[in-house]
Amino acid sequence: MAKSAWGPGSRSGRAAQMTYAAPTYEFLEDRARRRVPKFAFDFVQGGTGADWGVEVNRRALDAIEIVPRYGDLRKADPAATLFGRNYSAPIGIAPTGMDALIWPGATLSLARAAKDGDIPYITGTLANSTMEEVASVAGGNTWLQLYGFPRDDHKVTFDMIARAKAAGVTAIVATLDAPVRAKRPRDLNNRLVVPFRPTPRTVWEVATAPAWSMALLRHGAPKFANIDRYVEGKPTLDRVAGFVQKELVGSFSWEEIARMRRVWDGALIVKGVLHPDDAVSAVEAGVDGILVSNHGGRQSDAAPSPADVLPIIRDKVDGKATLLFDSGVRSGLDVARALALGAEAAFCGRAFLYALAALGDDGGSHFAGLIREEFAVTMAQSGAWSVSDLPNVTIRHRDAYSA
Ligand SMILES: Cc1cc2nc3c(=O)[nH]c(=O)nc-3n(C[C@H](O)[C@H](O)[C@H](O)COP(=O)(O)O)c2cc1C
Repeated sequence: MAKSAWGPGSRSGRAAQMTYAAPTYEFLEDRARRRVPKFAFDFVQGGTGADWGVEVNRRALDAIEIVPRYGDLRKADPAATLFGRNYSAPIGIAPTGMDALIWPGATLSLARAAKDGDIPYITGTLANSTMEEVASVAGGNTWLQLYGFPRDDHKVTFDMIARAKAAGVTAIVATLDAPVRAKRPRDLNNRLVVPFRPTPRTVWEVATAPAWSMALLRHGAPKFANIDRYVEGKPTLDRVAGFVQKELVGSFSWEEIARMRRVWDGALIVKGVLHPDDAVSAVEAGVDGILVSNHGGRQSDAAPSPADVLPIIRDKVDGKATLLFDSGVRSGLDVARALALGAEAAFCGRAFLYALAALGDDGGSHFAGLIREEFAVTMAQSGAWSVSDLPNVTIRHRDAYSA
């Protein structure tokens, strides 16, 4: 009989310590809150408006019950194939800009987590390290999230795509759902604005977060490393942040997506789709994948949860693109829920950042292992022995029962 993933002796040393300290997302979030400056924690945890979207994401996932099946003692295999590449599980790291705010040096720690855990990492346009640095650590597990820089006929945007190709990035993920900057009340209240000028309160928050301050000394101040080269003169944080504020547009037209398709022969994915007609337009523009997401509740406080719209999108897309999911995913159970609704993989944003803030540079690898184990356990409780069985598990979604 195989040893239980959490059974006695199943882990040792640092891995065991991390498991006992932070066995779930909720422990990681709580520990992160206590270890980092409040302005940094708020930046990650907060949504837009009244945080309603953040709550809706949880409610929708929690409403989905998976009815257990028994009588077959095969071992569940969580391995997955996405866009022709094999991964250890259908779980990935979602892109997070300014990731180093909650944990200095976050980007390369996440790249290591992706490599060690053999899962995809969508590194952000606004990440702390360049896509070239990420790809040198994570190899083909590197995907690139793209924002648009429309000036001069998208010179910067298409230069980033050319860099991605040269670096061995295997997928481009073009974000659609940030056409305007969302209002994030907590960031305003914390004076987290460009240019950033510390207040007595932020200085106090830093002074009382020793682990974070040590990481800052080790890794240096947060940067927008992918963008440095496009700024005239010395790329100081103020200058690069000013460039980003002026030039970046967080969305693309369908024509621009179709143009990307013509120059990019790796996997092309659009992120932030919630309307079924937009999913159809994405397919017509030539994408390989659609990441159904409401940006973790950070863009529109009236947006539905991706879990609610995914089945409609699945029916409309009808297998013409691979569906991916994010927003609110905290556990392997949530990953199974997303796959049962029609996604082929689920991504986590906040979870990996909390893991770093809670446990330090190895936290991302810890969370990758933890959520994969949880996912395999859920599979074994659901009558799913491989990921291709998950669309057929019996779920109760709200009041509906599909046997
Ligand atoms: C701190 C933070 C920064 C983010 N930055 C970006 C970004 O630069 N580009 C992007 O497409 N999505 C960004 N997102 C959204 C994530 O990619 C993802 O959609 C979201 O985090 C999923 O929800 P979850 O945090 O509940 O897992 C960000 C999310 C967070 C929490």
